[in-house]
Amino acid sequence: MDVHLKVRRFNPERDTEPWWGEYTVEAEPDDTVLTALNIVKWYHDGTLAVRRSCNHGVCGSDALRINGQNRLACKTILKDVGKHVTVEPIGGLPVLKDLIVDMVPFFDSYRAVSPFLINDETPGERERLQSPEERERFDDSTKCILCAACTTSCPSFLANDQFIGPASIVQAHRFMFDSRDRGAAERLEVVKRPETLAVTTFPFGPERSRDLLGRVRVGDIVPVRIDRGVLEVAGEYRIVRLTLTPADTFEMVLNLTGRR
Ligand code: SF4
Ligand code: FES
Repeated sequence: MDVHLKVRRFNPERDTEPWWGEYTVEAEPDDTVLTALNIVKWYHDGTLAVRRSCNHGVCGSDALRINGQNRLACKTILKDVGKHVTVEPIGGLPVLKDLIVDMVPFFDSYRAVSPFLINDETPGERERLQSPEERERFDDSTKCILCAACTTSCPSFLANDQFIGPASIVQAHRFMFDSRDRGAAERLEVVKRPETLAVTTFPFGPERSRDLLGRVRVGDIVPVRIDRGVLEVAGEYRIVRLTLTPADTFEMVLNLTGRR
């Protein structure tokens, strides 16, 4: 079938403003948006810049805004999005070229939550043991591939660059609920900093990305103020996933904050 792709282009060495490139490619209904972009790059315009690697939803490098929603291009099937596909870089991060954004601010937030095991206790003669139940408690949050789809579709992140964003909250969860770890208190100091607290909303569902935050076990962290992403009640904490955000709200935030 013929697929019409409208791709947001910007080369900072040449362009003063972003522009739309339009391409019609021949592809199968079961092909992915990434395959269609590859066809553009390989056969229509080799200057198109798009970041990708594994092609299987593992590396997290091809999160893009596809028909207004953040998705992994390699996991988005053409027949699910139609014959007219708009592709833009994810929002809130500087565009380096075309569909490639600078991920440094995203990984700065990731580093802020110390995403590694913290434990100064002597491990003993064997490795630090953990029961299957203890391991299962943080299983979902180990599956984050750091694609930034959630963080860059979160209006609070777009409006407040001090907010660490949902992906970093997932990473904090990964270690805070690991029975071998002793760094929960210092991570909470980062996660619950007033300037990092914000409403965390997701204009996409679990079928469209690895939306892990919504699957973090209820009861792990207990909410306090319902307008905040990580909330405290009686000394306990819950990571809260709020409702889907309409695409027009997302557009409004992008425009208001000048971060698109
Ligand atoms: S939580 Fe999901 S959407 Fe967010 S960075 Fe991790 S894999 Fe991507
Ligand atoms: S190319 Fe690796 S997740 Fe899509």
